[in-house]
Amino acid sequence: MFRANLRQIKQNQTKKSPGPREPIRLLFRLSNVSKGYSYGKKGRIKVLEGLNLCIIKGPITGIVGVSGCGKTTLLHILGATDKPDSGEVICEGMRLQYDDKMQMERFRMNVVARIFQDLNLASHLNVIRNVMFPLDVRGESKTRARIKALQSLASVGLLGNGSHNKSKSRIYNLSGGERQRVAIAKALASGAKVILADEPTGNLDSYNTIKIMDLLRDINREKGVSVVFISHDTRIAKDYGQFIIDLEHVKENPPKTVFYGVPAERYETAEKFRVH
Ligand SMILES: Nc1ncnc2c1ncn2[C@@H]1O[C@H](COP(=O)(O)OP(=O)(O)OP(=O)(O)O)[C@@H](O)[C@H]1O
Ligand SMILES: [Mg+2]
Repeated sequence: MFRANLRQIKQNQTKKSPGPREPIRLLFRLSNVSKGYSYGKKGRIKVLEGLNLCIIKGPITGIVGVSGCGKTTLLHILGATDKPDSGEVICEGMRLQYDDKMQMERFRMNVVARIFQDLNLASHLNVIRNVMFPLDVRGESKTRARIKALQSLASVGLLGNGSHNKSKSRIYNLSGGERQRVAIAKALASGAKVILADEPTGNLDSYNTIKIMDLLRDINREKGVSVVFISHDTRIAKDYGQFIIDLEHVKENPPKTVFYGVPAERYETAEKFRVH
């Protein structure tokens, strides 16, 4: 089953590319990644230790695991907003040099878009200004940035008529679901190839949860943007993730060889089904 799933992904990937024997393309490969935090006299607490895993390019990957197991820490490392203490992270063949500020800045600006728990939206700016922000920083012309922002807002459903047009609204006047949409529109406008989303539906009701997750799935399918998301809700992870990485399980049972996560349909039996 697992092999069949990988084969299917490989076929889907190769549909768009010439070589029929092309191997599975990886979005991320983490080798021996460790990360801890210092607590003064209490010493250093290790959150991730010698973590080895791969995230496949193409399918949506959901990351689950108990609170405190290091999911956000992992996403920060993937998004280069924090660096590992040791180990190697490769994104689409490029080794992330965490000490190279220029490379990391370019990576954060051009490759990944992060939708973190605090959403990273400026509440004093209106919606369209927030979406244009990364483009302004990148030095794109105001006209171009505006066009991209409007297109992105339209695709997340915030550019309707009358009260449905939220482009001029202040962030603090928006609902939780609408704020999530602005964050997604910002990611889209920036042209990021990868969206890293930390609990994108954490504060939403079930209606908005489905709306936001459907949106991420559409972006993944139609725009070819890779999506890696964290969820506390294993149901959501299974419904929307094609591969599930149970971080707690991976930490307790370090895989001996390449680990891509568990295909969603096998997730419930993952503990018995050791994927090596
Ligand atoms: N900046 C920091 N300084 C010190 N400790 C930290 C820091 N960030 C995280 N930690 C600790 O590292 C551990 C993992 O935190 P992390 O936020 O990655 O967990 P998580 O799996 O995302 O949890 P949750 O599901 O609650 O969001 C926790 O014990 C947390 O207290
Ligand atoms: Mg977290």
